Amino acid sequence: MSISKRQLHLGLFLFSTGYHPAGWRLPEAVAGGAFDPEFLKQVALKLERAKFDFFFLGDRLASSADEQYTFPSQMIRLEPFTMLSYLAAVTEKIGLIVTVNTTYAEPYHVARMTASLDYLSGGRTAWNVVTGADTRAALNFSREKHWDNAKRYDYANEFVGIVKELWDSWEDEAFIRDKKSGVFVDESKVHALNHVGEHFSVAGPLNVARPLQGQIPLLSAGTSERSQELGARFSSAIFTGEILLEEAKAFYAGIKSKLAKYGRTPGELSILPGLVPLVGCTSEEARAKYEELSALLVTDYNLAPLSQRLGIDLTGLPLDGPLPDVSQSSHPGDKARRLIALAQSASGREDITVRELFHYFAATARGHLLVVGNPAEVADQIETWFVQEAADGFNICPPYMPGGLDLFVDLVVPELQRRGLFRTEYEGSTFREHFGLTRPDNRFAKQAALQGVAE
Ligand SMILES: Cc1cc2nc3c(=O)[nH]c(=O)nc-3n(C[C@H](O)[C@H](O)[C@H](O)COP(=O)(O)O)c2cc1C
Repeated sequence: MSISKRQLHLGLFLFSTGYHPAGWRLPEAVAGGAFDPEFLKQVALKLERAKFDFFFLGDRLASSADEQYTFPSQMIRLEPFTMLSYLAAVTEKIGLIVTVNTTYAEPYHVARMTASLDYLSGGRTAWNVVTGADTRAALNFSREKHWDNAKRYDYANEFVGIVKELWDSWEDEAFIRDKKSGVFVDESKVHALNHVGEHFSVAGPLNVARPLQGQIPLLSAGTSERSQELGARFSSAIFTGEILLEEAKAFYAGIKSKLAKYGRTPGELSILPGLVPLVGCTSEEARAKYEELSALLVTDYNLAPLSQRLGIDLTGLPLDGPLPDVSQSSHPGDKARRLIALAQSASGREDITVRELFHYFAATARGHLLVVGNPAEVADQIETWFVQEAADGFNICPPYMPGGLDLFVDLVVPELQRRGLFRTEYEGSTFREHFGLTRPDNRFAKQAALQGVAE
């Protein structure tokens, strides 16, 4: 395959028990990493040794124990700002992405916490803006129900605009700290917002100096049209959950085509799908681990959701029997065939059973692509998606921890480096530098300069 001048971006999407629902049950897996600072530290240091761009913490604002068989690491976790403040102190280069749900937060708090983390991390902070995937959160925040998509994104747009202005409250040159005269700050370089909008009134200024990165990079991860617009307007990267190459290419092209209307260029926004790499030294070893994980799933084999996904009624079929005829799928085109091909590829055979098909989709129920193979096979997939512009990089979700991450870092990353696709050294030390993003001017300083020219 050809070597591209573009460079991949790689990050870890942390699931402390692994992305595979049964990942924590492997004999070698660490099952209690979520609350173990030493475990989290070792993971972050490993990523840094591998020159990863970022360590990403998702977040949810609700919990229930019944997720234990489907997604245990979503049930309980440390609060992201607290955890990343700790990791900032024990790492030097890796970007730190904190998730904040705008639906249940205040802009002043978020501007303050992100700016503080940016200082503590030496400019390595980024903010994943979400509006909330978990509707139950409403009940934890004195609300009767989760807002609909339109209200959440109206709120989020105003919210993000305010946070960005708050970050610019203090111009970089505002601090004089002249011991002789006693002047600490040049008051003409400090800006109140006096924002009064549909949802918020915020006077400002912020009580934290302008973040080290000037503006902290934003990421977004929604699938709706409104989320894509928010991403096209504000984000430096968008996380997605595409698993089929053609759909991923269409998503990529669609988002990039929205940028021009916001005065932005395609290079300013990276598209980062999730990837679940199940790596072995050989294909056989990877498949053996895949089968071991599949056998550990605790499931009642409810085939209804999978039937819906494939457009083929699987209910009532013998689990250990062959797959039905794919041509009966109610989905247009050959989508069902392409989905089934993913499961066949993971098993390394075409004649998989209904049970094996179920196992594949149980492992990827959260929507990220599971690839089973040796280092070259996994690198081939990454390269194909990258070169064909389905992705600018990946949000890596190891199927189990820490071994699933170790194999990716030790075997696949060097292969990507050999192919010239991924950095062998950090070129910079901030999140912006990892993504080749320049530090923006302060909007208020810029306005003042423009007024000066006009006068
Ligand atoms: C890779 C990825 C990661 C996400 N992480 C979170 C998260 O940590 N917390 C959350 O509430 N939503 C998360 N989401 C969901 C979306 O950000 C969004 O809040 C949700 O999908 C509802 O918005 P939508 O209607 O625009 O999709 C994630 C989505 C993707 C694809």
